Amino acid sequence: MDSDRPGGDLRERRPPWDGKRVVLGVCGGIAAYKVIQVARDLTLLGALVDVVLTDAATRFVTPLSFEGVTGRRPLTDLFSAEGAALHVRLGQEADAICVAPATADFLSRSASGRADDLLSEAPVVVAPAMNDRMFAHAQTQANAAHLAERGYLLVGPAEGRLAVGEGRGPGRLVDPGIVVEALGRVLEPPSPLSGKAVLITAGPTREALDPVRYLGNRSSGKMGYALAQAAWRRGADVTLVSGPTALPAPWGVERIWVESAADMEEAVLSRVESADVALHAAAVSDYRPAERHSSKMKREAVGDEFDLRLLMNPDIASQANTRMKPGSVAVGFALETDDLESHARRKLEGKAFHLIVANRADTPGSGFESDTNKVWVFDDKGGARDLPLASKDVVASQILDLVEDRMGKARGG
Ligand code: C5P
Repeated sequence: MDSDRPGGDLRERRPPWDGKRVVLGVCGGIAAYKVIQVARDLTLLGALVDVVLTDAATRFVTPLSFEGVTGRRPLTDLFSAEGAALHVRLGQEADAICVAPATADFLSRSASGRADDLLSEAPVVVAPAMNDRMFAHAQTQANAAHLAERGYLLVGPAEGRLAVGEGRGPGRLVDPGIVVEALGRVLEPPSPLSGKAVLITAGPTREALDPVRYLGNRSSGKMGYALAQAAWRRGADVTLVSGPTALPAPWGVERIWVESAADMEEAVLSRVESADVALHAAAVSDYRPAERHSSKMKREAVGDEFDLRLLMNPDIASQANTRMKPGSVAVGFALETDDLESHARRKLEGKAFHLIVANRADTPGSGFESDTNKVWVFDDKGGARDLPLASKDVVASQILDLVEDRMGKARGG
């Protein structure tokens, strides 16, 4: 069990990559310590991870650290004939190659074709880390752009605090979890979602009463964010229209912040016509205050009783579903307390979704703030699926499997 990490066992949190071979190249930089976590997570997910450390890397981290988390002996001596041969073989057998941290020197060597490290047909993920001045240098930028053109997937660097004494700026290695997600994008099997535009709504909306107070709900946004990350891993171009949440933006996803249902309506309707798939996971507030006060309401002025008049919000999904292009797929979400199937089916039909994902508000381990979810998926052909209780990431993948089954069979496609 990996119960020391939030969310419990990694293998239960996301779909595994059993038997996939990953070559993890580690260059000499202080961020190398974070890559031990990457090696560990990939191993927990079932991948066979062969670590290749440069000479400089061994001054920051030891091969033993990597051996401890991968159970496989890392390669360090690339310059012996045996080392080089083994290296080439590893590259040829790899399902993916990842270089993290990738130093400015590594970017330069590989951009000019001198990194024999990458003698491979496998997809390559590169996670640069260096100080911000080195990253901003025109030559480094040109090298990074060249690698991206060549089809390498570059992740980061992230912005923030650099090594001690280096200040802040873009140069940090992205979080280990992001390197893992990026590898997911190249390791997961080819998907019909690849290259498709996926529009997702997530989180609650806030309906302002005055500049301080609002009406809201308990939605955490976790389900929509998990869908966004899973769709990105499948190669989709993902736009996430998010109400206020505390969640970090999923990597690679364009996040559009909104606050009210009216903001969300505008953000969705201006984008839905080009979407191939729309997933309406947001908990849109049904009503908004009829009046929004421009300054903070005072108890003394309001008095002992306060009648609040509410107006119904527009239904975003219903409008969006009439504007989608032929062949597109629309998925709704329904949280119910009783008569789950009949309520969900009424929404499926009434709002013209292809699929509706329903859950019960009272199921333990399910619903708004939970990391797990227990859902049923009903479709417009009368079909029903009962998905097991699982992490929201795993549930997201199962929902996307059902979306993939529907792609091309929907809206006259
Ligand atoms: O709130 P309700 O249960 O009707 O939500 C069902 C679906 O409709 C959800 O997918 C939700 O995101 C969407 N919805 C919407 N706009 C609203 C209310 C709900 O898009 N005003």
